[in-house]
Amino acid sequence: MANSAPPPPPATPSPASKLVRIIAVVILALIVLVGLAVLITWLAVKPKQLVFRIDNASARDFSLKNDHLNATFAFLIKAHNPNGRISVYYGPAEVSAAYDGQTVAFNTLAPFRQPRRNVTWLAATLVARDVALPRDVSTDLAVQKKSGNIGLVVRMKARIRFKVGIFRLKHHTLRVSCSPVKVRMPLFKNFETTTCDLDW
Ligand SMILES: *[C@@H]1O[C@H](CO)[C@@H](O)[C@H](O)[C@H]1NC(C)=O
Ligand SMILES: *[C@@H]1O[C@H](CO)[C@@H](O)[C@H](O)[C@H]1NC(C)=O
Ligand SMILES: *[C@@H]1O[C@H](CO)[C@@H](O)[C@H](O)[C@H]1NC(C)=O
Repeated sequence: MANSAPPPPPATPSPASKLVRIIAVVILALIVLVGLAVLITWLAVKPKQLVFRIDNASARDFSLKNDHLNATFAFLIKAHNPNGRISVYYGPAEVSAAYDGQTVAFNTLAPFRQPRRNVTWLAATLVARDVALPRDVSTDLAVQKKSGNIGLVVRMKARIRFKVGIFRLKHHTLRVSCSPVKVRMPLFKNFETTTCDLDW
């Protein structure tokens, strides 16, 4: 009788490992809940891309002499926020016009706030004052001017911030590129609108 060993106790988890399991389940449940909340918010807000277009462009006081350019370009930029629940704050927007890879004119627009589902037209006047151009670019520009149509690339860069309900999201740098913007000279009629690309 002395050598009959007691049967081994049934394997029960120690209280410590039980606690670990409960904590793991709680953390998992929290992750799933947060994920669901993000998904539901996303579906409710349905963010849509901002849309930009050049609706008009003109040039005046154009003078090209000794590979130097003077001109005043005016662009009408259409900014569309199609979002029903997101408004946008724009910081100062840098607008530039480039010809054949050379930036010829530049300006900064005042900051503005764009409400939900809003279209705002931004008038940008960019002045080129005695801008030195490489000889080949200048020759090319003179030829294009004579043909009555100058093809520019218009770019806009701004720090923006989205607001959803009461929440302000973090800043983004918005980069917009519009090409080709065909500036008609000397007639400004029949401007072909140019849709712009977004580059985040
Ligand atoms: C485009 O701008 C030019 C010059 O400012 C103006 O004469 C013309 O009426 C404008 N065209 C449109 C469609 O707004
Ligand atoms: C541009 O305008 C300035 C005066 O504002 C003048 O000195 C310069 O010669 C002009 N350049 C051209 C290319 O017309
Ligand atoms: C867009 O927002 C601007 C600035 O708040 C306002 O002046 C303009 O009337 C709005 N346009 C439309 C179509 O709601």
